[in-house]
Amino acid sequence: MRTARLTLDGNDYELPVFEGSEGEVAIDISQLRAQSGAITYDPGYGNTGACKSDITFVDGEKGILRYRGYDIADLAAGCQFSAICYLLIWGHLPSAQELARFRDAMRAEALIHEDMKKFFEGYTTAAHPMAILSAMVGSLSAYYPDVVTDDDLDRNIIRLLAKSKTIAAFSYKKSIGQPFVYPRNDLGYASDFLHMMFATPMEPYAVPPAMAEALNMLLILHADHEQNCSTSTVRMVGSSGANLFASTSAGISALWGPLHGGANQKVIEMLQRIAEDGADYEKYLALAKDRDSGFRLMGFGHRVYKNFDPRARLLKSAADKVLEGLGVQDPLLDIARNLERVALEDAYFVERKLYPNVDFYSGIIYRAMGIPLKMFTVMFALGRLPGWIAQWKEMNDDPNNRINRPRQIYMGQTARSVTPMDRR
Ligand code: CMC
Repeated sequence: MRTARLTLDGNDYELPVFEGSEGEVAIDISQLRAQSGAITYDPGYGNTGACKSDITFVDGEKGILRYRGYDIADLAAGCQFSAICYLLIWGHLPSAQELARFRDAMRAEALIHEDMKKFFEGYTTAAHPMAILSAMVGSLSAYYPDVVTDDDLDRNIIRLLAKSKTIAAFSYKKSIGQPFVYPRNDLGYASDFLHMMFATPMEPYAVPPAMAEALNMLLILHADHEQNCSTSTVRMVGSSGANLFASTSAGISALWGPLHGGANQKVIEMLQRIAEDGADYEKYLALAKDRDSGFRLMGFGHRVYKNFDPRARLLKSAADKVLEGLGVQDPLLDIARNLERVALEDAYFVERKLYPNVDFYSGIIYRAMGIPLKMFTVMFALGRLPGWIAQWKEMNDDPNNRINRPRQIYMGQTARSVTPMDRR
């Protein structure tokens, strides 16, 4: 057996070493504390493998992203998002029959319980749709609580995928004070979502094929990304035995942060700010390099990708195509391109290996599609749902799963007593 040796206070410890299917080497420290009394310290978990997983492979140095072994570019070129959901959750691309059954099941679950519509009444029109999405997804567990068999779980998985699309579109309608538009059974996932967003009781909405295609691709590109902040949150919450809806709701909250999925909204806000300030992108590049400014180039940098983000590459060329296809001109696209160009030539960004990430160009495409800014992170969440579900399911199916419970190095005050003076 391959091992690594750790020497601590003159004692040697042999630690088992194993390798993943793509050659990643891991030192198994699961018995370290029991053997040596010491624990490891890794803030931000940059060097910690929290699980073994068969779902998604990312090689940050080479810019590789694969779902179940398939390259992301391959999947994004022509596959349907529903087939990718199936692939991630159940491990293989569905046959025509499996896909038809899956789609039918999703269509049958697209409506939310009528009582849930009352929840929307409690929000003001200013409510952020991520707040609504996370609360409503958690609330699904109040309506569909019992999972006894694998079939029950599959049904809840389908409910979560299908109803989140409806909840997301309803949260937008709520924010503009329009009546909800119900899902349609004759439309695919992306088209149905766009129909619920943009149709009104007075006028149906004919979904432009270019828009449905673009949204389908965006959803696929966001569908999973191994152990990122929100996915680790889903696993963390799920490790206690919390149900799928509750765990996913926590994942949605984690995604909302501006350093994670919330970055897609922040990128556009940043580009708008630069546009309003005379499109002086060099000024903002300088600000991003100045630690004291508190300004970061949103949509740039990634914990794992240190060369390029394959999703960003696909989105950059998609942005050109989609805007042209929809006949939209967006001055923010020029600013984004210029910002990327100067950043990629700048020593600060080169040395730190900072490249555009998935959020840099996705917002430009959402804007061209007419999706409002506050919905951008909701779009990310809809795309990421199958990934969260697949990871939650994999964890639950793993007989070695234990409740997640990291340790800490306590650095605070050592033991002391309350004095009589303190007892007031
Ligand atoms: N602009 C300016 N400097 C940056 C940026 C940026 N966007 N990102 C990282 N840096 C600098 C950072 O200041 C640090 O510099 P120094 O070594 O001098 O202290 C160095 O690069 C390393 O950064 P870090 O914050 O230690 O890196 P991290 O791996 O902890 O953070 C990140 C990764 C994505 C949170 C970060 O790059 C960032 O804040 N980016 C902007 C927000 C963003 O676009 N988030 C979306 C991520 S992709 C979608 C997703 O999966 O969520």
